[in-house]
This record gives sequence, structure tokens and C-alpha cells, in this order.
Amino acid sequence: MSLKRAKISGIGRYLPEYILTNKELETMVETNDEWIRSRTGISERRILKDPDKATAFMATEAAKEALADANVDASEIDMIVLGTVTPDYMFPSTAALVQKRIGAVNAWGFDLSAACSGFLFALSTGTMMIESGRAKKVLVIGADKMSSIVDFTDRTTCILFGDAAGAVVLEEADKGGIIDFVHHTDGDEECSLYQHAGGSLNPASLETVKNGKHFLTQDGPVVFKKATQGMADVSLEIMERNQLTGDDVAWLVPHQANLRIINATARRMGLSTDKVMINIEKFGNTTAATIPLCLYDWKDKLNEGDKIILAAFGGGITWGATYLEWSK
Ligand code: COA
Repeated sequence: MSLKRAKISGIGRYLPEYILTNKELETMVETNDEWIRSRTGISERRILKDPDKATAFMATEAAKEALADANVDASEIDMIVLGTVTPDYMFPSTAALVQKRIGAVNAWGFDLSAACSGFLFALSTGTMMIESGRAKKVLVIGADKMSSIVDFTDRTTCILFGDAAGAVVLEEADKGGIIDFVHHTDGDEECSLYQHAGGSLNPASLETVKNGKHFLTQDGPVVFKKATQGMADVSLEIMERNQLTGDDVAWLVPHQANLRIINATARRMGLSTDKVMINIEKFGNTTAATIPLCLYDWKDKLNEGDKIILAAFGGGITWGATYLEWSK
């Protein structure tokens, strides 16, 4: 029995209105615009300021736009897979909140934790459901309110992250669609990228709060090295096993963690920068949302049959790449 293929039939996003610029960060921590731009490529990022709103709100708005773009009613969705490390609650899942809010009355769903690889892992999960015939329409969402776990007194991390959500609708493809993916996980015992408290090992306590253990912490240079290596390696891996050269690839859609990591990946793939989707300067690292935010910004430039590589690296550590042929 030949597998069905899945394709992306709609894309949506949500961006909070508030723009936190490098200039404003200069008033908060000892940093400067030039350092941030030259080391990361970031000029500004969005912050969800409304205390009553969080990841599920952004994910819901992105989902609504993706459904409208695909011309699909929420009741047609069979499944919702949502990548996030900043769920509204430990439970219920953010996917469940979105299911209710959009009226996806026939859908089941769950959150998936793979940090910055969350969207790609969710995309592959949804793809396999369509390939197997278990689902006909799947909503895949990457959403993170990073400002809820970022320490805005730590200049090594607070300059990097922003809040946003991106969503896609997956449906059966007649041609093209998602062809292959390669994903990896390597449990990180070196603690290079962590949120130490809030889980069952270190539940919230006065101590954990006092010691800032609920904030994201990372060893920047260690993560930088692993990400540069991992994202390029996995992109080459998927190219090799699909016999693709740099000339064949129309677009690289890389996770937006650091412009230098993106450029190194493109170089190793043999791609010129005009084939690389980059919007890190506007949004920073929005964790699970970066890849759908890029697809959204570039959707009018995508042509039928374009060969596209999506690549990500994140905490866990997790990394992966997806190969698809654009067809809408
Ligand atoms: N402003 C000014 N100076 C800063 C700074 C800031 N915001 N943050 C760090 N510095 C300083 C450091 O204290 C250090 O000073 P020192 O040399 O006096 O000790 C110097 O800049 C260099 O720091 P370093 O950490 O070596 O810089 P870097 O070139 O590695 O850049 C990151 C730091 C965080 C931008 C970079 O390591 C990175 O992007 N890492 C990956 C992060 C990531 O992608 N995380 C998510 C994974 S998906």
C-alpha cells in the first residue's frame, strides 16, 4: 500500500503588537544595539504584554488565520499538534485550549515538547497521521510566549527571544507535499539549555522562585557550537538521502536562533543567501514559531514544485530537517 502524502494548505501567524527594540534593551541591561545585531542579527522582537493572554491566545489567532487561508472549517480538523515549551498550564494542554476556542469539535490533540524543534517535530507527527490515513486534516502549531520564562536582567538570554505563534493546516496532497524528514534527540546532561524548575523534579517553591530557577538558562557558546553543527549536519543528511544538491533547493527555512548559525548552515548546504528565509531581525528567536513565521512571510514567493528544506535545532537537545515540495 503506497502512503498518502501531506501538504501545507494554509498558513497563519500571530504577532503581539509590542515591539521591544535593541534600543529599549539598552535601558534594561548592559548591552548595545551594535553588539546584538552583529552577534545575533536581531534588531527587535515582539512581546505579549497583556497579562491575561498567553501561548494559547496566540496559537488560537494563528490557527484561525491558517484555517481561513486553507479554506477549511474548524470542524473538519481531525487533530491538533502544538509544539511549545511555554504552555499556558502544565495541563490542560495548550492544544486542548485551542481546540475549544476555534471550535474544532471533531479534533483530538496534544502539546509536544521539543523546544525550537517543536514545530518540525509537530509537522512530522501530523504528516504521519495523514500518510497513514488516520487523519485527513491536521492543524500544526508552533507557539511560544518566551517572555514568560526569560530573565530580563540576564543580558546573555533576554536579547535573543520573542513571543509569537505560527500555524499550518495539513491536508492530503495530490502532488508534491512533505516528502521526508530526519529528526534527532540527544538528552543533554550538560545542562546547556534548560528551565530547571516548574517540573516534577523541582516543583515551584519559594526557593526555586527566589533563585530564578524558572527562567531559561543556557550556555550560549556551547549551544551555538552544537546548533551550528547540528542544523547543518541534518540539512546535509536530508539532502544526501534525497539526492539533492544546493542547486536543486529553492528555499532553506531555518530556525531563527542566530544569523550566524543560519549563514553557516546555508554555506555548508551550498546555498546563496537569496535562497534562505531570514526574518530574525524583526522577531528574534520565537522558539517553536520561527519556521511558520518564515513560511508566512515568504508564502507569496513560493512556486509550485519548489524544493524546500526546513531545519531546526533546539533544547533537549533536538534537531531535525524536513524536505517538502511546495504545492498548495
Ligand atoms: N551585550 C553585550 N555583551 C554581551 C552580551 C550582551 N547582550 N551578552 C554577552 N556579552 C558579552 C559576554 O559577557 C562576553 O564578554 P567577556 O568576553 O568580557 O566575557 C562577550 O560578550 C562574548 O560572549 P559570548 O557568550 O562568547 O558571545 P557569543 O559570540 O557566543 O554570543 C550568543 C552569545 C548568546 C549570542 C551566542 O552564543 C548564541 O547565539 N548562542 C546560541 C543561542 C541559541 O541559539 N539558543 C537557542 C537555541 S535554539
